[in-house]
Amino acid sequence: MRQPVELKKAYRLLNHGPTVLVSSAHAGQQNVMAAAWNMARDFEPAKVCVVIDKTTHTRALVEASGEFALNIPDRSLADSTVAVGDCSGRDTNKFEKFGLATFASEKIAAPLLGGCVGWLECKVIPEPHNQQRYDLFIGEVVAAWADSADFSEGHWHFPPGRARSIHYIAGGTFFETGDEFTVGK
Ligand SMILES: Cc1cc2nc3c(=O)[nH]c(=O)nc-3n(C[C@H](O)[C@H](O)[C@H](O)COP(=O)(O)O)c2cc1C
Repeated sequence: MRQPVELKKAYRLLNHGPTVLVSSAHAGQQNVMAAAWNMARDFEPAKVCVVIDKTTHTRALVEASGEFALNIPDRSLADSTVAVGDCSGRDTNKFEKFGLATFASEKIAAPLLGGCVGWLECKVIPEPHNQQRYDLFIGEVVAAWADSADFSEGHWHFPPGRARSIHYIAGGTFFETGDEFTVGK
């Protein structure tokens, strides 16, 4: 079940380095692309960074709307992750083409992707130099959610038998998140 994540703990959704799906919307258009180059950036107010190349349609929608969402897919969405990262929403409605279910965000216009294990709704903190020169976008997290079967009380669980988040290498190859261990206690 989808549950809110306390914003000051939203960084924990990304700290282990999952590949995400960046969803966006502007002026009646919605889109989604894959992004391996993302990271948490701050605790409170929670912030994230993501690289959104200037050739992408997502870039146009994010720049126009000042918003994006990071959706954290699990392994069951690995095919879809490569698919949406391999074509442009400029030419096609990826949600229809790849049969991706969406539902409404709470604080932004971009849709959230069904079947993911975590979601971060973000508003762009404008940094024109970084955006232009490095394709780097910083967002303030204005709402965060997770599937409580996988993440609750600030921690990932990934119980046995459930698909886990994924980490992209290249050429269609991923790692799936491994087993948790703790040191220093
Ligand atoms: C697994 C994966 C990870 C990707 N990571 C990024 C990334 O971090 N930043 C980026 O700009 N593009 C990345 N891409 C490429 C975009 O997803 C791709 O250019 C996409 O087609 C853009 O779609 P759009 O034009 O509909 O926005 C990645 C692609 C794949 C398959």
